[in-house]
Amino acid sequence: MKAYLSRRYRLSASHRLHNEAYSSAENRAVYGKCNNPHGHGHNYVVEITVSGPVDPLTGMVCNLAELDGFVRRVIGERFDHKNLNQDSAFEQKVPTTENLCIEIYKIVKIGFAHVMLECVRVEETSNNFFEYSEMAPRLLER
Ligand code: NI
Repeated sequence: MKAYLSRRYRLSASHRLHNEAYSSAENRAVYGKCNNPHGHGHNYVVEITVSGPVDPLTGMVCNLAELDGFVRRVIGERFDHKNLNQDSAFEQKVPTTENLCIEIYKIVKIGFAHVMLECVRVEETSNNFFEYSEMAPRLLER
């Protein structure tokens, strides 16, 4: 038996999409306005989905307070109200929301390892969001 728990968090950060491997013209062509030298901000919505059996004692998949604490301490401290371009994870990688999503996934998978991490979804705007998972798609699992 397996149940899923998803929790939503908010994160505000800035970034500039720029790749040193490209010329200025190429950067502008690839990233458009997102290559603006002063960067821009997003109010990201980060959704973390974990899974596992329902603990017969607590009736829960995972302790929500523990997950909240971990996310606030580790993800929040690191990325909230920060310039993503200055984070060590993005020294060699462009801080696109795809890459931010993968980074958050890696941090949760390693740091909050007592539950199964199913998926991390990061909403950048109301029109686009990104998802990353190393698990089999849920529909195929059933
Ligand atoms: Ni952006």
